[in-house]
Amino acid sequence: MLSIFRKQTTQPFNCTTLSVDMHAHWLPGIDDGAADIAQSIALIHSLKAAGYKKLIATPHIYWDLYQNTPARIQQALNEVKNALVQEGIEMDVHAAAEYMLDEHFNTLLQSEEPLLCIHKNWVLVECSYVSAPLDFKEKLFQLQMKGYQPVLAHPERYPFWYQRLDYFQELSDQGVLLQMNILSILGYYGKEVQRVAEKLLSMKIIDLLGTDMHHERHAQALVALGMSAQVQKLLDQNKILNTTL
Ligand SMILES: [Fe+2]
Repeated sequence: MLSIFRKQTTQPFNCTTLSVDMHAHWLPGIDDGAADIAQSIALIHSLKAAGYKKLIATPHIYWDLYQNTPARIQQALNEVKNALVQEGIEMDVHAAAEYMLDEHFNTLLQSEEPLLCIHKNWVLVECSYVSAPLDFKEKLFQLQMKGYQPVLAHPERYPFWYQRLDYFQELSDQGVLLQMNILSILGYYGKEVQRVAEKLLSMKIIDLLGTDMHHERHAQALVALGMSAQVQKLLDQNKILNTTL
């Protein structure tokens, strides 16, 4: 007899249909992602095996911790491209950045130095996990006024907004694109993050999906954790733009 209490069946997440990963930390030795070129190649190999055709690395630019510059990021990308040739691995690799909205970011914005974009004028940004920035909408607006399209990384991972998820509807209405981590949907960061991810999907405001891959445990989770048909249905109701990148 079928029981309503029977564990829900799940399917592995299908990365092949996304084609492009636009948020990951596989450039070697420049942030909290891959520590060296061997780890970079291992992560890229895993992403290729998961079905991705194009990868965009987004190392942190977070001045208190990771003082990355366009030149340093380009140098790391060149190192990866050379290693991929040597290993005989075919993959379309690119690099941009994940900008922390800190004081350094304000300086960059005022300096008119071009920001690194994941696509056209799209800039991936994050904020602190600890407390809500008071002037967050204003900062994103300033970015828009400079001609950029803000993409907010992993809205589901900021606990201080859990009691006011309508804030993300307001950001979406303001023209900010929202990028969810696939691992959040799959439960890797815990039940609460997963619940919020499902809620945001039900609001139909998620525009992009990223792996936010930092290390091999993320790669293993991506292929090992399954997703229910119910959550897949929620995901299908969002217009995910990855394939357009
Ligand atoms: Fe990230």
